[in-house]
Parts: sequence; structure tokens; C-alpha cells
Amino acid sequence: MFYQVYPRSFADSDGDGIGDLGGVREKLGYLELLGVDALWICPVMRSPMADGGYDVADPRDIDALFGGMAAFDALVAAARTRGLKVTMDLVPNHTSSEHPWFQAALTAAPGSPERARYIFRDGRGPSGDEPPNNWPSIFGGPAWTRVTEPDGTPGQWYLHLFAPEQPDLNWENPEVVADFEQTLRFWLDRGVDGFRIDVAHGMAKPPGLPDMQTVSTKMLIHDDSDPRFNNAGVHDIHRRIRKVIDEYPHAVSIGEVWVDDNTRFGEYVRPDELHLAFNFRLAETPFTADAMRHAIDNSLAAVAPVGAVPTWTLSNHDVEREVTRYGGGAAGLARARAMILVELALPGAVFIYNGAELGLPNVDDLPEEVLQDPVWERSGHTERGRDGCRVPIPWEGDRPPFGFTTCERSWLPIPPDWAGLSVEAQLEELGSTVSLYRLAIELRRLRPEFAGPRIEWYGSPAGCLAFRRPGGLVCVLNASAAPIPLPPGELLLASAPLASGHLPPDAAAWLV
Ligand code: NOJ
Repeated sequence: MFYQVYPRSFADSDGDGIGDLGGVREKLGYLELLGVDALWICPVMRSPMADGGYDVADPRDIDALFGGMAAFDALVAAARTRGLKVTMDLVPNHTSSEHPWFQAALTAAPGSPERARYIFRDGRGPSGDEPPNNWPSIFGGPAWTRVTEPDGTPGQWYLHLFAPEQPDLNWENPEVVADFEQTLRFWLDRGVDGFRIDVAHGMAKPPGLPDMQTVSTKMLIHDDSDPRFNNAGVHDIHRRIRKVIDEYPHAVSIGEVWVDDNTRFGEYVRPDELHLAFNFRLAETPFTADAMRHAIDNSLAAVAPVGAVPTWTLSNHDVEREVTRYGGGAAGLARARAMILVELALPGAVFIYNGAELGLPNVDDLPEEVLQDPVWERSGHTERGRDGCRVPIPWEGDRPPFGFTTCERSWLPIPPDWAGLSVEAQLEELGSTVSLYRLAIELRRLRPEFAGPRIEWYGSPAGCLAFRRPGGLVCVLNASAAPIPLPPGELLLASAPLASGHLPPDAAAWLV
């Protein structure tokens, strides 16, 4: 089980109101208690933080904001003594505009080797003042920004699929490939156990950069016909990356792959490409049994032909938290508790986003002046972006910032009514969400009934689902409006108390 740490929001050890690696190290005991096997740490490399660290100015150094290299080495060493693996987030598709390469490209001439590390093009129209193609940025606005040439004249345009501060690299340039390989070796030699690879379906661009047929204006969304992503050349890039990772037999690679089509998704996890790829179906699926069954079947079908391990995730730092997605309030929390039992009953690798184990909801009423996601600015203040799922973790006490920081204010304010959701409050309570997570993770690790790489669907009442693992575990989800009888067997765990032996609505149970 992987636990995703969004370091800015996890725990602050130096009192500046922003989480850091020292904070993660101080909380390793908690993560061990929870039963985590491996950490995925969102980007901590040197960055001006235009996109929370996904804009990297030096891929082989740790930002001072997170405690610098010393804090990183100390965290990796401390994690090792507890038997926890550490994977870090790498960003191969783009750099920060502050990266020395991009700064050099700005002062160099069109056609120069400095510009050839990125995707610079002349504009369209008689004076070149229209972007080279019609691609929008994922964060809103055009995916191209025009530069001013060193002589002061309006010049070429550069591609940025995300913010203008995140210029896309040109992966056809061998220098770019070699530099990324150096980055992989740099961190593997420093003791990390692998990488989460950002935008792993990006990097390769289609020949000639053709216009998009349908320009979607919906931010952060794209589909399989989108020329910006999932181009055939990306697989050669993954083969190159895998060769390096294979020099370190313990290491694992996990790609962020937003590709819907099962066959095309599976291509990313062929034996010589990524080890694992995030399957986001569960994170996108509404709380109905049919939709869940469909999502599970598709996630299994996507990796089965290539023999890869399936992955499961209910949320991350880019999407609405599941409690809110499932309707919020008591029902949203009950459904999120049910879904963690479904997720942990499935064969494969499970990714838990920090705070999900506390049942945190999204915070949708953050004051506008604290919003930091570039989406907020790029949308002309019409889309609030992803800050609502990035609010810091409440650790203890009865008032914000709940032990997250010693500073009066955390970088995003924590709602005062989260006192009952704090780690301290929940660890003391057997019925809390964190206690449910702990118990479920432990059972999944210890019980032989979780064995076997498949699932078999069981008959179940309308609005419900039930499946069985070859080892004997049966998981039942009641997404209907009425209590249901449980199939025969010994009850191992339920996400809500049974009523007269029946599983209530918005609940799940494990039986053996
Ligand atoms: C995906 C990351 O998860 C997201 O947070 C980031 O904004 C984009 N990639 C761009 O790097």
C-alpha cells in the first residue's frame, strides 16, 4: 500500500506554515502505525512553486522550503530503519521557466541548440502574432506563450501544456533524454526506491504539432483523441527510462497515465515500460454499484493482457476528495469508508492520499485570497482549482492549525470544525475512520483470504455488488437505499455497524 504525501500539507517542522520533509520524518511513526508500505512524495525538488513544485528548476536538488538535501537524506534514512520505502515524484514533461536551460533558451536565438531543448515555434499569421496551433493549456488559456527576443522584438512562441511557468521539454532531443537518465540515477544512488512519473502519457508530441479537432474548454480534462497526450513515441521514452531503472533491481516506476482506452492504457505497463500506472477510474466513478463494477472490470481488463499489476486510487492532490465526491456530510463519509474496504479488497497496489484515512472532505469555501492553484488565475477566477483537496492535515488539539505547524497560520487555513477529524482525536476512537483504515490495512496484510490475482463477481441485490477473491475473501458493497442480508460466512470487518445482521446502505463488509 502506497501513501501519497503532499509535503506542503502534511506536517511543518520549521514553523513557516508550510509542510516540509522534516515534518514527514517526524510523522513516520504514524505512517508505520497506519500500516503503510511505501511513500509517494509529491515533488520536492528546487522550484519557484508556480504549480506546487511541479515546476522544477533543478531536478537534482531539494528545495530549501522543504528542508534541502539534508532533510531529504534524513527522511530516506529514517524511513529505511522503519522498513518504509520511499518513492519520489519526477516531472519529465516540463521544467520550470526558471530552469537554467529555459533561461538560456530565452537569451539564445531561434534555431539555437538552447531553444532545441524546448518546443519553440514561429507564430502563425503575417506577423507571427498567433500561436503556432490551437492547443489550450490544461490550466486554461492557450498552451503557447510568445517570448520577447533578446533584441526587444516580439519573437517565437514556446509550448506549455500546463502553466506558462512550465515549458514543455523536447523529448526528441537526446540531451533531454540523457539529463533525465542522470536524474533517475542521481536519486536511485541516493537510496530512493522508485518514482512516480508525472504526466507519463505526455512527453512525446505528434509530428508537425497539428491543431486539435475539438478544442475542449473544460479545464484539466482531455480525452483519448487529444493530440497533446498519448502519442506513439512515448513508449520508446518509457523503454529508455525502464532500462535505467532496471539497473536498480529493487526500484519501481509508477506512471501518471490519464488514458481511458484499456488497450492503450495497458501499453504503458508492458514488461519493458512502467512497472505500474495509475488507473483513475475509481477516482472518477460515482457511488453506484453498476458504475463501480464497470470501473473495476475495466481497470482489471486494462492490465490483464500485459500481465501487469492493477492499481487503485480513490483520490489524489488533483481531484475532489472522495467524501465530497460521494455527496459530502455523513452520507459522503459513510460511502468513503465503504469504498476503502472495496479498494483494499481488490488485487493489486492501492494508493491512499494523505488525509483520506481521516475522512477529510474537500474545503470548497477557502477565501479567494489564499488560493494558489494556477487554475484560479488562468481561468480568470472562474475555477477555484485544486486547493480544496490540499488543505493541511489536522494532527491534534482543538483549534487550527491543529498541530500542523507552530506558526499561527498554515499556508491554507484548516476549518475550525476539523477538531474531531484530527489524527489525535481519531486514533483514540475505535469507530473512527483512521481506525477503520488501520484495521483494514492490517487484515489485508495478514489474512490469507486476500490471496490471488483475480476477483469473481457474486450475485447481489440491486444497487449492490459483491466479489470474491480466490483466497476466500468476500467483499460486499451496499450502494442501495435499503439494508441487505449478508452472504454466509464470518464477518471480518464492516465499514458501519450491522443492524439485525443486515448491512446498512452506504456500507461495505468483508467476510471469510
Ligand atoms: C500532474 C500533477 O499531478 C499535477 O498536480 C500537476 O499540476 C500536473 N501534472 C503538471 O505537472
